[in-house]
Amino acid sequence: MYSYTEACRFFGDMFPEDLARRYGTPLYVYNEAILRERMREMKSILKDDSFTVNYSIKTNSNLSILKIALDEGLSADAMSPGEIHVLLEAGFPSEKIFYVANNVSEDEMRYAIDRNVMISLDSVSQIERFGKINPGGRCAIRLNPGIGAGHHAKVVTAGKKTKFAVADIDIDTAIETANRFALRIVGVNQHIGSHFMDSKKFLEALSNFLSLAEQFEKLEFVDFGGGFGIPYKKLSGEERFDIEEFSGKLTVMVREWKKKYGRNVVFKSEPGRYIAAESGIILGRVQTIKHNYSDKYIGTDVGMNVLIRPSMYNSWHDIEVYRNNTPILDGDVEEVTVVGNICETGDILAARRLLPQIEEGDLICVLDTGAYGYSMASSYNNRLRPAEVMIGMDGKERLIRRRETLSDLMTLFP
Ligand SMILES: Cc1ncc(COP(=O)(O)O)c(C=O)c1O
Repeated sequence: MYSYTEACRFFGDMFPEDLARRYGTPLYVYNEAILRERMREMKSILKDDSFTVNYSIKTNSNLSILKIALDEGLSADAMSPGEIHVLLEAGFPSEKIFYVANNVSEDEMRYAIDRNVMISLDSVSQIERFGKINPGGRCAIRLNPGIGAGHHAKVVTAGKKTKFAVADIDIDTAIETANRFALRIVGVNQHIGSHFMDSKKFLEALSNFLSLAEQFEKLEFVDFGGGFGIPYKKLSGEERFDIEEFSGKLTVMVREWKKKYGRNVVFKSEPGRYIAAESGIILGRVQTIKHNYSDKYIGTDVGMNVLIRPSMYNSWHDIEVYRNNTPILDGDVEEVTVVGNICETGDILAARRLLPQIEEGDLICVLDTGAYGYSMASSYNNRLRPAEVMIGMDGKERLIRRRETLSDLMTLFP
């Protein structure tokens, strides 16, 4: 066994036990060096000078993370006015924000229009609505390339079984509708789903998407989405997404398409998970150990309100166990079920997992939780959302979001 957090010096000069005591558990901890490295890797996937990486803020919208993205030269995509608001607050200029809208109201469209934020429309009905309130406006259209991919049916966002995007058979109507309102379709985008480790389906989808894109005559940008996966089973040696191989194929495909299309088009991507996931972990405390019939339960404070992915998608997150600031790597392992403190039987972090012998008071370190972790956290059961700290480039920690307090639970009541 090896320890990921030790191997990459995840905690920098800090000790997990000190962080846990200072800020309480559960606690989200991020590592700035990993975050920056992943952003740079994403910038390198397409060898094209105008290539732009939009960081997908739905993954993790902590202001400090957004500022790092800005510092690394990334643009951003948003899925709601709230995300646009936070991006503007973080310092993103409106021309660096792309609003990938789905089933939105006139008011939400106006919110983007008033702030000069480019919007992507994903149905004929939404094109018509946009045209009525902003005739002659500029917009993008989200296309369905007919092929989806992802770690769970719930996150496959293209193909025949999804609510998203304009299907190939509807493109003519979409263009006619846009023409009726003199809309200028300056961009097309796709997103086929989240967390694929093999680029084959993505490249097939991209090929379809680029053929569909040719039907639009005046494109300024083409956004091929995100979805690149990360090795959630890294402790047992899962391989990384092969960026180099992917990048080679992607670059050839895009170059050929650009030559054929004949206009100078900017290519964009919208990765989220690949950038943020591995830069974050959750520290949790083991509160109780008990047997219920044949199962041994490790009761922690990392409930489904803190990390919902295992309960929602059956997702796997590797778990390391720390005692006295040292990961437990040797000794016997045993099968245990790691659970949280929420009043739900489904509040399971890891079912029947082989882990070292755990004791009450140990710290667990839940890996790869920087994406879709805090951003999907809630105050279910009126539990308090955790604090977030960042291990900076100097190896020291800084608080980047405080823990909620009991009085935060009362703030919205009139
Ligand atoms: C439209 C869109 N863009 C980008 C993303 C980011 O995807 P990922 O985090 O898998 O890279 C998503 C996630 O579902 C999405 O729906």
